[in-house]
Amino acid sequence: MTTPHHTSSLSPRLHRTTHILYSLILSLALLLVGCAQSGDSGAPVLNGPASTDSAGTGSDTSGVYTETTPSRDGIGKVYMGREISKVMGHRGAQWLERAQRAEEERPDLVVDSMRLEPGDVVADIGAGTGYFTFRIAPKVPEGRVLAVDIQPEMLRRIRSRMQEQDIRNVTPVEGTIRDPRLPADTLDAALMVDAYHEFSHPREMMTSLVRSLKPGGRVHLVEYRKEDPSVPIKPLHKMSETQAKREMRAVGLEWVETLDMLPQQHFLIFEKPRP
Ligand SMILES: C[S@@+](CC[C@H](N)C(=O)[O-])C[C@H]1O[C@@H](n2cnc3c(N)ncnc32)[C@H](O)[C@@H]1O
Repeated sequence: MTTPHHTSSLSPRLHRTTHILYSLILSLALLLVGCAQSGDSGAPVLNGPASTDSAGTGSDTSGVYTETTPSRDGIGKVYMGREISKVMGHRGAQWLERAQRAEEERPDLVVDSMRLEPGDVVADIGAGTGYFTFRIAPKVPEGRVLAVDIQPEMLRRIRSRMQEQDIRNVTPVEGTIRDPRLPADTLDAALMVDAYHEFSHPREMMTSLVRSLKPGGRVHLVEYRKEDPSVPIKPLHKMSETQAKREMRAVGLEWVETLDMLPQQHFLIFEKPRP
């Protein structure tokens, strides 16, 4: 990956070659990670039963989860006092792309606030239809967006839009419910919009994601504000700031700041500590 400083010191041709080489190396790394984990079916077990099985990420998560009677929108699995919500199925794709969303959620402000550099490698975890992926891609023309989802239907949508619009710096990645399947020490930033509260294995997902961040790499977490009863979203699809901080701290991320500019959502920024 190149920083703006590096960019300006390279001739355009050398720079393009470096960029192509870098993309090849990243693609190879993604392929190897996928192969190394081929024992995992990768099947999206949506709305599945509570499970406390091992992460496949090397972390011991026994005792991290408890079970409860599932509420209407929940899976009956409790993590750090929060019942995990059901996954929004691909039939909700149109809702993700609704016209009013630009006003309701201000994706422009979300992406601007990520303060991306042109060469950054960014993971959009729980990318859905790519609503944010395709807004991030133009901000990292010399970098890459890794669009991770567990639903193949969502990834298909992302692929077809890449083809239609000839977008070359997006890589769709089929993750598993425990693991986004990204190479270690690669990411400058990760974004999770309205997705984290759905992860059926949040501890495993985040442990793996933290491993994939570079030191100083940032996690941008966007969730509907639970503290605000006027936000018209089902309770399990919201998160409080306190809860979000607690869960990120548990995987070793340091809170950096909380931005309040969004109409209905928290925007929290965390960082992987530098050694
Ligand atoms: C409500 S949608 C939000 C999509 C997108 N972030 C947006 O704001 O438009 C949540 C997405 O998270 C995905 N998801 C749920 N659990 C996941 C996991 N463990 N890993 C990756 N994606 C996951 C779902 O398949 C779904 O596409």
